[in-house]
Amino acid sequence: MSSSKRYTITAALPYTNGPIHIGHLAGVYVPADIYARFLRLTGNDVAYICGSDEHGAAIPMRAKKEGISPQDIIDKYHAVIKNSFEDFGISFDNYSRTSAKIHHETASEFFTKMYDDGEFIEEVSEQLYDAEANQYLADRFVVGTCPKCGNEESYGDQCEKCGTSHNATDLINPKSAITGNIPTLKETKHWFLPLDKHEDFLRKWILEGHKNDWKPNVLGQVKSWIDDGLRPRAVTRDLDWGIPVPVEGADGKVLYVWFDAPIGYISSTKEWAAREGKNWEDYWKDENTKMVHFIGKDNIVFHCIIFPAMLKAHGDYILPENVPANEFLNLEGNKLSTSKNWAVWLHEYLEEFPNQQDVLRYTLTANAPESKDNDFTWKDFQAKNNNELVGNFGNFINRIAVLTNKYYKGTVPNPGDFSELDEDVLEQVQQFPDNIAKSIQRYRFREASQELMNLARLGNKYLADEEPWILIKTDEARVQTIMYVGLQIATALSVLSEPFLPFTSNKLKAILKTDENLQWNDITEKEVLLPAGHQIQEGKAPLLFTPIEDKTIAIQLEKLEATKKANEAANKTVEPQKDTIEFDDFTKMDIRIGTILEAEKIAKTKKLLKLKIDVGMDVRTIVSGIAESFKPEDVIGKQVTVLCNLAPRKIRGVESQGMILMTDAVDGSLAFMEPQKETQNGGQVS
Ligand code: 2FM
Ligand code: ZN
Repeated sequence: MSSSKRYTITAALPYTNGPIHIGHLAGVYVPADIYARFLRLTGNDVAYICGSDEHGAAIPMRAKKEGISPQDIIDKYHAVIKNSFEDFGISFDNYSRTSAKIHHETASEFFTKMYDDGEFIEEVSEQLYDAEANQYLADRFVVGTCPKCGNEESYGDQCEKCGTSHNATDLINPKSAITGNIPTLKETKHWFLPLDKHEDFLRKWILEGHKNDWKPNVLGQVKSWIDDGLRPRAVTRDLDWGIPVPVEGADGKVLYVWFDAPIGYISSTKEWAAREGKNWEDYWKDENTKMVHFIGKDNIVFHCIIFPAMLKAHGDYILPENVPANEFLNLEGNKLSTSKNWAVWLHEYLEEFPNQQDVLRYTLTANAPESKDNDFTWKDFQAKNNNELVGNFGNFINRIAVLTNKYYKGTVPNPGDFSELDEDVLEQVQQFPDNIAKSIQRYRFREASQELMNLARLGNKYLADEEPWILIKTDEARVQTIMYVGLQIATALSVLSEPFLPFTSNKLKAILKTDENLQWNDITEKEVLLPAGHQIQEGKAPLLFTPIEDKTIAIQLEKLEATKKANEAANKTVEPQKDTIEFDDFTKMDIRIGTILEAEKIAKTKKLLKLKIDVGMDVRTIVSGIAESFKPEDVIGKQVTVLCNLAPRKIRGVESQGMILMTDAVDGSLAFMEPQKETQNGGQVS
């Protein structure tokens, strides 16, 4: 295993325009956390850095929509996001925010140094402008057709469909996202980063220098951009939300969010170093430091082209050793979406699955979108929990803890001579740290997590083959050896699971009362991990995992179904008005309020309820197609609106004497037309 090194690990700064969901966790924060925890456990010097990205154009847009200030939005979501990360055990060394003073200063200094060195092109050019909103349109303020893939909803700076990054003026048929107006062109001055000037360096550094160690999905995107030819990119904007451009003659202009955000990694490191008494420059300027950026695939261009060009042009900084970008995670077959509420929000997950952070961490790792987009399904989540965590890992530990307590009052027994199998198993255990490490070092976290589960499997198989619970009747001495070996495997699991399942690892360490100083390499190097005579937790050990029932999963699926219906209803076009009628036509209809007295389902139908309704004049039978939205017991006693003089007709053998009036609710279900106040039955609607 490699000797100790210094690492700067960055995880993409999330935008503070909403909470975070499973896609964020799977794509960036869990893999980066596994990597950081692993490196710490193997004795490296690690700065795991993140913070909130608070200058994105979506933030003032959301603020405008909600009638509050951008500051309110960032304060609210910075807190929500920070809490979610803490709740899920994401072990950042520092979580900062780009609205912090230190960040404004760092980004301004960075820009000024590049400006002074002549690294920008200053140019007056025509940019898209919305006269009604009195605003230049860039980034999320404008949508149009992507010149590369034809996506009609591309943003000004990036197409989310094909990942291409472009200038707003490249969009075909651009439209203002504020007013919907077609923009005009208006002159304005901006500073451009001449990416074309850095093309040769980028080609050599990435496409030649890293062709064997960067992920194919990352290399593929980089190659396609470079082959298309890099062009100067504006790094300033005409906006009032962001870091003011720190040069004369730049009033009303701010730094482009993608110029300042990656510098946020540097300012967050500075904040941490000042607190911890470290030198931040060691983590950003020393060639021996390894820097790794964890991101999602939509961020590749910014971390592999633009930010490295900035770092290179600035001149004082090291470049990343790797940028292991992940693909996207979908949810039940559809793209995760904050605006469509198609997500599993982390703060909601914890309300519904309290203390089950590791189940989600594990599921997202075992199914991580490392080389292609993947799907999160609740059924798979349940299966991974029940079969792998409960059935494999939890089961092994439970057997070990229960039997150690039962046979030896919780004391690790003295082993006798090891059999060939014991020797073989103990030798296999020693291989695990290196095997798991190899996968982690290649950013293959799925593979690494499966290898960890193989260790639990090895333990289960060993117990199943040796059957100490049977042998105890005939060969107590042999059982001592078996249990001793089992306890060594359990201890190895407690250490090696830490990067993946930190909460479980802690629980397990408490059950076994392991030596707190045990490190990753000790599993290979130490002969004894838990010595004979050592006392583990006495009494009934807590379960590491619990089975998830079908009904719990059904609730989650119903929730998503309701979201789907709500989205469909929101997208429903309003029907055009029908032909005009005369007032007399309207007065011909006898519409009254009635109360439902009885309700029952009509046999062999899905949709029909037979209702008895008191409409004041009489109690009549009405057949209504509402059974998919309402249970009979839920509608009894409701006041509804009834068209009473509709000609009676037979439906499924029942004469229906009128019709109740319904409408579609926003969530896609049916809704009654109820009077606003209690009304006398028979009261007319006019
Ligand atoms: O895509 C995003 O969510 C961005 N806020 C990521 C920024 S990463 C960085 F460079 F700060
Ligand atoms: Zn596109």
